[in-house]
Amino acid sequence: MKKIGVLTSGGDCQGLNPALRGLAKALYTAFDDDVEIYGFADGYRGLIENDWKLMEKDDFSGILTRGGTILGTSRRPFKLMRVIDESGVDKVAEMKKNYKKLGLDAIVILGGNGTHKTANLLSEEGLNVVTMPKTIDNDIWGTDETFGFQSAVAVATNVIDCIHTTATSHGRVFIVEIMGHKVGWLTLYAGIAGGADIILLPEIPYNIKSVVKALKAREKAGKNFSIIAVAEGAISKEDAALSKKERKAKQAASPFSSKGYELAAEIEKEMGREIRVCVPGHIQRGGDPNAYDRVLSTRLGTAAAELIKKKQFGYMVAVKGESIVPVPLSEVAGKLKYVPVDSEVVKSARDLGISFGD
Ligand code: F6P
Repeated sequence: MKKIGVLTSGGDCQGLNPALRGLAKALYTAFDDDVEIYGFADGYRGLIENDWKLMEKDDFSGILTRGGTILGTSRRPFKLMRVIDESGVDKVAEMKKNYKKLGLDAIVILGGNGTHKTANLLSEEGLNVVTMPKTIDNDIWGTDETFGFQSAVAVATNVIDCIHTTATSHGRVFIVEIMGHKVGWLTLYAGIAGGADIILLPEIPYNIKSVVKALKAREKAGKNFSIIAVAEGAISKEDAALSKKERKAKQAASPFSSKGYELAAEIEKEMGREIRVCVPGHIQRGGDPNAYDRVLSTRLGTAAAELIKKKQFGYMVAVKGESIVPVPLSEVAGKLKYVPVDSEVVKSARDLGISFGD
Protein backbone atom coordinates (compact mmCIF):
# COMPACT_ATOMS: atom_id res chain seq x y z
CA MET A 1 0.00 0.00 0.00
CA LYS A 2 1.41 3.42 -1.05
CA LYS A 3 0.68 6.41 1.13
CA ILE A 4 0.81 9.80 -0.55
CA GLY A 5 0.24 13.17 1.10
CA VAL A 6 -0.95 16.23 -0.78
CA LEU A 7 -1.40 19.91 0.05
CA THR A 8 -2.18 23.19 -1.71
CA SER A 9 -0.32 26.23 -0.37
CA GLY A 10 -0.17 30.02 -0.88
CA GLY A 11 -2.69 32.13 -2.77
CA ASP A 12 -5.22 29.95 -4.54
CA CYS A 13 -5.81 30.02 -8.30
CA GLN A 14 -7.91 28.38 -10.94
CA GLY A 15 -6.73 24.84 -11.76
CA LEU A 16 -5.90 23.54 -8.28
CA ASN A 17 -8.87 21.16 -8.19
CA PRO A 18 -8.32 19.70 -11.67
CA ALA A 19 -4.64 19.26 -10.74
CA LEU A 20 -5.62 17.31 -7.60
CA ARG A 21 -8.06 15.25 -9.64
CA GLY A 22 -5.41 14.50 -12.31
CA LEU A 23 -2.91 13.48 -9.63
CA ALA A 24 -5.36 11.27 -7.73
CA LYS A 25 -6.81 9.51 -10.75
CA ALA A 26 -3.33 8.79 -12.12
CA LEU A 27 -2.14 7.53 -8.71
CA TYR A 28 -5.10 5.14 -8.39
CA THR A 29 -4.34 3.88 -11.91
CA ALA A 30 -0.56 3.61 -11.35
CA PHE A 31 -0.92 1.58 -8.15
CA ASP A 32 -4.06 -0.41 -9.09
CA ASP A 33 -6.00 1.36 -6.34
CA ASP A 34 -3.46 0.18 -3.76
CA VAL A 35 -2.83 3.73 -2.60
CA GLU A 36 -4.04 5.99 0.19
CA ILE A 37 -4.11 9.74 -0.39
CA TYR A 38 -3.87 12.02 2.64
CA GLY A 39 -5.11 15.57 2.06
CA PHE A 40 -3.58 18.14 4.43
CA ALA A 41 -5.82 21.09 5.28
CA ASP A 42 -4.85 24.70 4.47
CA GLY A 43 -1.38 24.11 3.02
CA TYR A 44 1.61 23.74 5.33
CA ARG A 45 -0.64 24.47 8.32
CA GLY A 46 -2.17 20.99 7.98
CA LEU A 47 1.24 19.35 7.76
CA ILE A 48 2.57 21.31 10.75
CA GLU A 49 -0.52 20.63 12.87
CA ASN A 50 -1.16 17.08 11.62
CA ASP A 51 -4.56 18.12 10.26
CA TRP A 52 -5.37 15.74 7.43
CA LYS A 53 -8.14 13.72 5.89
CA LEU A 54 -7.89 10.32 4.28
CA MET A 55 -9.33 11.14 0.88
CA GLU A 56 -11.94 8.96 -0.81
CA LYS A 57 -11.97 8.39 -4.56
CA ASP A 58 -15.23 10.31 -4.64
CA ASP A 59 -13.55 13.42 -3.21
CA PHE A 60 -11.82 13.84 -6.55
CA SER A 61 -14.98 13.50 -8.65
CA GLY A 62 -16.88 16.50 -9.93
CA ILE A 63 -14.05 18.96 -9.29
CA LEU A 64 -12.58 19.30 -12.79
CA THR A 65 -14.52 22.48 -13.42
CA ARG A 66 -14.36 24.00 -9.93
CA GLY A 67 -12.20 26.97 -8.90
CA GLY A 68 -10.48 27.25 -5.49
CA THR A 69 -9.12 24.19 -3.72
CA ILE A 70 -11.01 21.41 -1.95
CA LEU A 71 -8.11 21.13 0.53
CA GLY A 72 -8.05 24.79 1.58
CA THR A 73 -4.90 26.88 1.53
CA SER A 74 -2.99 29.45 3.58
CA ARG A 75 0.17 31.51 3.44
CA ARG A 76 3.05 30.32 5.63
CA PRO A 77 6.03 32.58 4.89
CA PHE A 78 9.23 30.68 4.15
CA LYS A 79 11.31 33.11 6.23
CA LEU A 80 9.35 32.04 9.33
CA MET A 81 9.60 28.29 8.71
CA ARG A 82 12.86 27.99 10.66
CA VAL A 83 11.68 30.38 13.37
CA ILE A 84 10.34 28.70 16.51
CA ASP A 85 6.98 30.35 17.28
CA GLU A 86 5.72 31.66 20.67
CA SER A 87 4.21 28.32 21.62
CA GLY A 88 7.59 26.67 21.03
CA VAL A 89 6.58 24.89 17.81
CA ASP A 90 9.45 23.94 15.50
CA LYS A 91 7.50 23.92 12.23
CA VAL A 92 10.05 22.01 10.16
CA ALA A 93 10.46 19.34 12.84
CA GLU A 94 6.67 19.00 13.14
CA MET A 95 6.25 18.59 9.39
CA LYS A 96 8.93 15.88 9.30
CA LYS A 97 7.43 14.16 12.33
CA ASN A 98 3.90 14.14 10.90
CA TYR A 99 5.11 12.90 7.50
CA LYS A 100 6.94 10.02 9.20
CA LYS A 101 4.13 9.26 11.68
CA LEU A 102 1.73 8.72 8.78
CA GLY A 103 4.33 6.59 7.01
CA LEU A 104 4.07 8.63 3.81
CA ASP A 105 5.96 7.46 0.74
CA ALA A 106 5.83 10.93 -0.77
CA ILE A 107 4.14 14.30 -0.53
CA VAL A 108 2.85 16.37 -3.44
CA ILE A 109 2.89 20.13 -2.94
CA LEU A 110 0.98 22.53 -5.18
CA GLY A 111 2.15 26.10 -4.83
CA GLY A 112 3.89 29.25 -5.98
CA ASN A 113 7.25 30.81 -5.21
CA GLY A 114 7.22 30.86 -1.41
CA THR A 115 5.74 27.38 -1.35
CA HIS A 116 8.59 26.11 -3.53
CA LYS A 117 11.23 27.42 -1.14
CA THR A 118 9.66 25.43 1.71
CA ALA A 119 9.15 22.40 -0.55
CA ASN A 120 12.86 22.48 -1.38
CA LEU A 121 13.70 22.76 2.31
CA LEU A 122 11.56 19.68 3.07
CA SER A 123 13.22 17.83 0.22
CA GLU A 124 16.66 18.73 1.62
CA GLU A 125 15.42 17.48 5.01
CA GLY A 126 14.87 14.06 3.44
CA LEU A 127 11.16 14.04 2.58
CA ASN A 128 10.12 12.64 -0.81
CA VAL A 129 8.68 15.76 -2.43
CA VAL A 130 7.10 16.39 -5.84
CA THR A 131 5.62 19.80 -6.65
CA MET A 132 3.33 21.44 -9.18
CA PRO A 133 3.64 25.11 -10.28
CA LYS A 134 0.47 27.08 -9.62
CA THR A 135 -0.10 30.82 -9.64
CA ILE A 136 -1.90 33.48 -11.62
CA ASP A 137 1.41 35.41 -11.60
CA ASN A 138 3.20 32.96 -13.96
CA ASP A 139 6.44 33.82 -12.18
CA ILE A 140 7.83 30.40 -11.22
CA TRP A 141 11.31 29.83 -12.54
CA GLY A 142 11.85 26.65 -14.56
CA THR A 143 8.43 26.36 -16.18
CA ASP A 144 7.17 28.04 -19.35
CA GLU A 145 3.80 28.47 -17.71
CA THR A 146 1.98 27.98 -14.42
CA PHE A 147 -1.61 26.83 -14.19
CA GLY A 148 -4.03 29.56 -13.15
CA PHE A 149 -2.30 32.11 -15.35
CA GLN A 150 -4.45 31.73 -18.46
CA SER A 151 -7.72 31.77 -16.49
CA ALA A 152 -6.62 34.95 -14.73
CA VAL A 153 -5.63 36.49 -18.08
CA ALA A 154 -9.18 35.80 -19.27
CA VAL A 155 -10.70 37.45 -16.18
CA ALA A 156 -8.42 40.50 -16.34
CA THR A 157 -9.05 40.83 -20.08
CA ASN A 158 -12.78 40.79 -19.44
CA VAL A 159 -12.31 43.60 -16.92
CA ILE A 160 -10.48 45.71 -19.53
CA ASP A 161 -13.21 44.89 -22.08
CA CYS A 162 -15.88 46.12 -19.68
CA ILE A 163 -13.90 49.25 -18.87
CA HIS A 164 -13.51 49.89 -22.61
CA THR A 165 -17.23 50.37 -23.17
CA THR A 166 -17.70 52.80 -20.30
CA ALA A 167 -14.42 54.62 -21.05
CA THR A 168 -15.45 55.23 -24.66
CA SER A 169 -18.96 56.37 -23.66
CA HIS A 170 -17.64 58.90 -21.16
CA GLY A 171 -14.42 59.82 -22.92
CA ARG A 172 -12.37 59.03 -19.84
CA VAL A 173 -8.90 57.86 -18.94
CA PHE A 174 -9.08 54.66 -16.94
CA ILE A 175 -6.41 52.81 -15.03
CA VAL A 176 -6.94 49.07 -14.55
CA GLU A 177 -4.64 47.69 -11.86
CA ILE A 178 -3.77 44.07 -12.45
CA MET A 179 -2.31 41.52 -10.03
CA GLY A 180 0.97 39.69 -10.56
CA HIS A 181 2.99 40.50 -7.46
CA LYS A 182 6.53 41.48 -8.59
CA VAL A 183 6.18 40.50 -12.25
CA GLY A 184 4.18 41.74 -15.22
CA TRP A 185 3.04 38.64 -17.09
CA LEU A 186 -0.64 38.99 -16.25
CA THR A 187 -0.71 42.72 -17.04
CA LEU A 188 1.17 42.23 -20.31
CA TYR A 189 -1.09 39.48 -21.61
CA ALA A 190 -4.39 41.00 -20.40
CA GLY A 191 -3.22 44.42 -21.59
CA ILE A 192 -2.57 43.16 -25.10
CA ALA A 193 -5.71 40.99 -25.18
CA GLY A 194 -7.88 43.85 -23.89
CA GLY A 195 -6.37 46.48 -26.19
CA ALA A 196 -4.84 48.67 -23.47
CA ASP A 197 -3.11 51.80 -24.78
CA ILE A 198 -0.43 51.93 -22.11
CA ILE A 199 0.99 48.93 -20.24
CA LEU A 200 3.16 49.46 -17.15
CA LEU A 201 5.17 46.53 -15.82
CA PRO A 202 7.61 46.06 -12.92
CA GLU A 203 10.23 44.92 -15.43
CA ILE A 204 10.09 48.22 -17.39
CA PRO A 205 10.20 51.17 -14.95
CA TYR A 206 8.04 54.03 -16.23
CA ASN A 207 8.59 57.74 -16.50
CA ILE A 208 5.42 59.70 -15.67
CA LYS A 209 6.27 62.27 -18.36
CA SER A 210 6.32 59.49 -20.99
CA VAL A 211 2.96 58.18 -19.76
CA VAL A 212 1.46 61.66 -20.01
CA LYS A 213 3.05 62.14 -23.44
CA ALA A 214 1.38 58.93 -24.67
CA LEU A 215 -2.00 60.05 -23.28
CA LYS A 216 -1.67 63.49 -24.91
CA ALA A 217 -0.71 61.90 -28.23
CA ARG A 218 -3.95 59.91 -28.13
CA GLU A 219 -5.94 63.05 -27.35
CA LYS A 220 -4.26 64.81 -30.25
CA ALA A 221 -5.14 61.90 -32.52
CA GLY A 222 -8.81 62.43 -31.64
CA LYS A 223 -9.19 59.48 -29.23
CA ASN A 224 -11.50 60.55 -26.46
CA PHE A 225 -10.51 57.79 -24.04
CA SER A 226 -7.44 55.83 -22.94
CA ILE A 227 -6.87 52.69 -20.94
CA ILE A 228 -3.76 52.09 -18.86
CA ALA A 229 -3.13 48.53 -17.66
CA VAL A 230 -0.79 48.85 -14.70
CA ALA A 231 0.73 45.95 -12.80
CA GLU A 232 0.31 46.15 -9.04
CA GLY A 233 4.11 45.90 -8.80
CA ALA A 234 4.88 48.52 -11.48
CA ILE A 235 7.53 51.01 -10.51
CA SER A 236 8.62 54.46 -11.71
CA LYS A 237 12.18 55.09 -12.91
CA GLU A 238 12.57 57.41 -9.95
CA ASP A 239 11.63 54.68 -7.46
CA ALA A 240 13.70 52.09 -9.30
CA ALA A 241 16.76 54.23 -8.57
CA LEU A 242 16.14 54.03 -4.81
CA SER A 243 17.62 51.38 -2.56
CA LYS A 244 15.28 48.59 -1.42
CA LYS A 245 15.19 50.14 2.05
CA GLU A 246 14.37 53.62 0.74
CA ARG A 247 11.65 52.22 -1.52
CA LYS A 248 10.06 50.33 1.38
CA ALA A 249 10.06 53.47 3.54
CA LYS A 250 8.50 55.52 0.70
CA GLN A 251 5.83 52.85 0.20
CA ALA A 252 5.03 52.74 3.92
CA ALA A 253 4.53 56.52 3.96
CA SER A 254 2.39 56.54 0.79
CA PRO A 255 -1.21 57.75 1.23
CA PHE A 256 -2.34 55.51 -1.64
CA SER A 257 -3.81 52.05 -1.14
CA SER A 258 -2.23 50.68 -4.31
CA LYS A 259 -0.24 51.48 -7.45
CA GLY A 260 -3.30 52.35 -9.56
CA TYR A 261 -4.35 55.17 -7.24
CA GLU A 262 -0.80 56.51 -6.93
CA LEU A 263 -0.47 56.60 -10.70
CA ALA A 264 -3.87 58.29 -11.08
CA ALA A 265 -2.79 61.07 -8.69
CA GLU A 266 0.48 61.53 -10.62
CA ILE A 267 -1.35 61.81 -13.95
CA GLU A 268 -4.03 64.11 -12.53
CA LYS A 269 -1.30 66.42 -11.27
CA GLU A 270 0.41 66.49 -14.68
CA MET A 271 -2.70 66.74 -16.87
CA GLY A 272 -5.30 68.36 -14.65
CA ARG A 273 -7.94 65.86 -15.65
CA GLU A 274 -9.81 63.32 -13.59
CA ILE A 275 -8.66 59.70 -13.89
CA ARG A 276 -10.79 56.71 -12.93
CA VAL A 277 -9.25 53.62 -11.32
CA CYS A 278 -10.52 50.04 -11.41
CA VAL A 279 -8.91 47.39 -9.18
CA PRO A 280 -10.40 43.94 -9.88
CA GLY A 281 -8.13 42.37 -7.21
CA HIS A 282 -8.90 38.82 -6.13
CA ILE A 283 -11.62 38.42 -8.77
CA GLN A 284 -8.67 37.54 -11.01
CA ARG A 285 -7.99 34.43 -8.93
CA GLY A 286 -11.62 33.50 -8.61
CA GLY A 287 -14.14 31.53 -10.64
CA ASP A 288 -13.67 28.36 -12.61
CA PRO A 289 -10.53 27.30 -14.47
CA ASN A 290 -10.81 27.84 -18.21
CA ALA A 291 -10.40 24.94 -20.64
CA TYR A 292 -6.67 25.64 -21.11
CA ASP A 293 -5.94 25.50 -17.37
CA ARG A 294 -8.08 22.38 -16.93
CA VAL A 295 -5.92 20.60 -19.48
CA LEU A 296 -2.60 22.02 -18.20
CA SER A 297 -3.28 21.24 -14.54
CA THR A 298 -4.53 17.76 -15.42
CA ARG A 299 -1.30 17.10 -17.37
CA LEU A 300 0.81 18.36 -14.48
CA GLY A 301 -1.18 16.24 -12.02
CA THR A 302 -0.72 13.04 -13.97
CA ALA A 303 2.97 13.87 -14.52
CA ALA A 304 3.42 14.24 -10.74
CA ALA A 305 1.88 10.78 -10.25
CA GLU A 306 4.29 9.41 -12.86
CA LEU A 307 7.29 10.81 -10.93
CA ILE A 308 6.02 9.14 -7.75
CA LYS A 309 5.62 5.84 -9.59
CA LYS A 310 9.23 6.17 -10.81
CA LYS A 311 10.37 7.19 -7.29
CA GLN A 312 11.83 10.37 -8.76
CA PHE A 313 11.70 12.86 -5.90
CA GLY A 314 12.88 16.43 -5.34
CA TYR A 315 11.36 17.73 -8.58
CA MET A 316 8.74 20.15 -9.84
CA VAL A 317 6.75 19.07 -12.89
CA ALA A 318 7.21 21.88 -15.42
CA VAL A 319 6.05 22.92 -18.87
CA LYS A 320 8.80 23.01 -21.52
CA GLY A 321 7.40 23.65 -24.98
CA GLU A 322 5.03 20.80 -25.76
CA SER A 323 6.29 18.58 -22.94
CA ILE A 324 6.01 18.22 -19.18
CA VAL A 325 9.46 17.69 -17.66
CA PRO A 326 10.90 17.34 -14.14
CA VAL A 327 13.00 20.29 -12.91
CA PRO A 328 15.06 19.95 -9.68
CA LEU A 329 13.54 21.86 -6.76
CA SER A 330 16.99 23.15 -5.85
CA GLU A 331 17.01 25.03 -9.18
CA VAL A 332 13.48 26.42 -8.80
CA ALA A 333 13.59 27.62 -5.19
CA GLY A 334 14.33 31.29 -4.59
CA LYS A 335 14.20 32.47 -8.21
CA LEU A 336 11.58 34.53 -10.05
CA LYS A 337 10.68 34.33 -13.73
CA TYR A 338 10.39 37.92 -14.96
CA VAL A 339 9.06 39.13 -18.31
CA PRO A 340 12.15 39.48 -20.54
CA VAL A 341 12.06 43.13 -21.60
CA ASP A 342 13.34 42.30 -25.08
CA SER A 343 10.90 39.41 -25.62
CA GLU A 344 8.94 39.01 -28.81
CA VAL A 345 5.65 39.64 -27.03
CA VAL A 346 6.87 42.99 -25.66
CA LYS A 347 8.16 43.92 -29.12
CA SER A 348 4.84 42.92 -30.64
CA ALA A 349 3.03 45.26 -28.23
CA ARG A 350 5.45 48.08 -29.02
CA ASP A 351 4.89 47.49 -32.76
CA LEU A 352 1.17 48.06 -32.15
CA GLY A 353 1.96 51.44 -30.68
CA ILE A 354 1.37 50.43 -27.05
CA SER A 355 3.42 52.61 -24.72
CA PHE A 356 5.34 51.04 -21.84
CA GLY A 357 5.95 54.47 -20.33
CA ASP A 358 9.72 54.17 -20.73
O1 F6P B 1 0.45 35.34 -5.91
C1 F6P B 1 -0.86 35.49 -6.31
C2 F6P B 1 -1.42 36.81 -5.86
O2 F6P B 1 -2.76 36.90 -6.26
C3 F6P B 1 -0.63 38.03 -6.35
O3 F6P B 1 -0.91 38.36 -7.67
C4 F6P B 1 -1.05 39.06 -5.33
O4 F6P B 1 -0.05 40.05 -5.20
C5 F6P B 1 -1.18 38.25 -4.08
O5 F6P B 1 -1.37 36.91 -4.46
C6 F6P B 1 -2.31 38.66 -3.17
O6 F6P B 1 -2.19 37.93 -2.00
P1 F6P B 1 -3.30 37.73 -0.91
O7 F6P B 1 -4.27 36.72 -1.42
O8 F6P B 1 -2.58 37.23 0.28
O9 F6P B 1 -3.99 39.04 -0.72
